[in-house]
Amino acid sequence: MIVLLEEKVRFMVEKIANITPENTQEVWTRSVPEDAVLDVRDLRKVYAGNIEAVKGINFYVREGEFFGFLGPNGAGKSTTIKILITLLARTSGTATILGHDVNEESTLVRRLIGYAAQEASPDDDLTGQENLNIQGNLYHIEPTVLKSRIEELIELMDLQDAANRRVGTYSGGMRKRLDLASALIHRPRILFLDEPTTGLDPQNRAGLWKYLERLNKQEGLTIFLTTHYMEEADKLCERLAIIDGGKIIAEGSPTELKAHLGGDVITLSFKDNGTSPEFQATRVQEVLRDQAFVRSTTVNAEKNLTVVVENGSEAIPLVMRLLDHEGLVVASLSLTSPSLDDVFLKYTGTRIRQDDPVAYTPGGARGPWARRRR
Ligand SMILES: Nc1ncnc2c1ncn2[C@@H]1O[C@H](COP(=O)(O)OP(=O)(O)OP(=O)(O)O)[C@@H](O)[C@H]1O
Ligand SMILES: [Mg+2]
Repeated sequence: MIVLLEEKVRFMVEKIANITPENTQEVWTRSVPEDAVLDVRDLRKVYAGNIEAVKGINFYVREGEFFGFLGPNGAGKSTTIKILITLLARTSGTATILGHDVNEESTLVRRLIGYAAQEASPDDDLTGQENLNIQGNLYHIEPTVLKSRIEELIELMDLQDAANRRVGTYSGGMRKRLDLASALIHRPRILFLDEPTTGLDPQNRAGLWKYLERLNKQEGLTIFLTTHYMEEADKLCERLAIIDGGKIIAEGSPTELKAHLGGDVITLSFKDNGTSPEFQATRVQEVLRDQAFVRSTTVNAEKNLTVVVENGSEAIPLVMRLLDHEGLVVASLSLTSPSLDDVFLKYTGTRIRQDDPVAYTPGGARGPWARRRR
């Protein structure tokens, strides 16, 4: 406790020494709750070739929390998770799990955490049960304890009917569930999941969500999950950090992040009528941006104009009247409540495509964000 307190004080002193006008607010508002089980401070990773994948990030995860790490292709999610699970050395900064440094106390940290990688890797020639048995032996779990633990996990993941079948015959969703069971064999305190549903079809993805919720809500397990699916983060996570280009651009609960954005989102699209849609969007933006009822406007990569307003149904007639007055025409107009996608757009000026599903290609560009223009 005293050591932790000293560490906190040291951190504050170091931070205060580095105050610049840009980081003043962060220094004074960052406080780590007592029940934090993961604490990351100024974490940086520079790969060979001077590739700065993670640029000094700060966040914490509380005991029992379902925490999301949301970001596009190449944002730095896997790099961060690999540092946290002790597979990759950081360049600078600190990361502690239940007070233990992930670099300096890696053997101890490994016993406290479970990890399911981006690609599930059970042995196809063995049965589900045999795979779990091998995993348990790696942790030197005593045979009778292991036997009952495997039974428990098979039941928890609804794999009873498949437990004695070769994994080669499993569906994508079943493989993922077996992978989750493997990650839990030694009863970790925190489960790390790197994009657990990428490559699954929407039905299997929603199916897996149910198991993740069961682990968090019923079993009380702390979960750290990376994803590039907005909908997934919104549905599962109590709190999340959005990472882009190696930096955390927003942090909070999905509700807080969306509420911060303001009331409703009006999206206007334009057709090429001799004048480019982009030019029309920019022109309409000029007309709307200074109106009292408008909170923010953004022209996205699809050349649509997104307008955040306090009250959508009151704003639409005002928007139409203004455009009419200026002789401007829109091709379509839609009204939605803010989504995490709108939060991302506000901070990065880029929208996320939620096309579904795109098969995972190991090591290659994949997923909706792979096509993002930057
Ligand atoms: N071993 C490596 N050597 C050099 N650069 C790397 C290495 N691994 C990752 N990078 C780079 O670091 C950046 C972050 O990559 P990272 O894999 O952490 O992103 P990610 O958010 O997990 O992306 P994805 O959604 O594709 O899984 C990218 O620019 C990537 O090209
Ligand atoms: Mg990754």
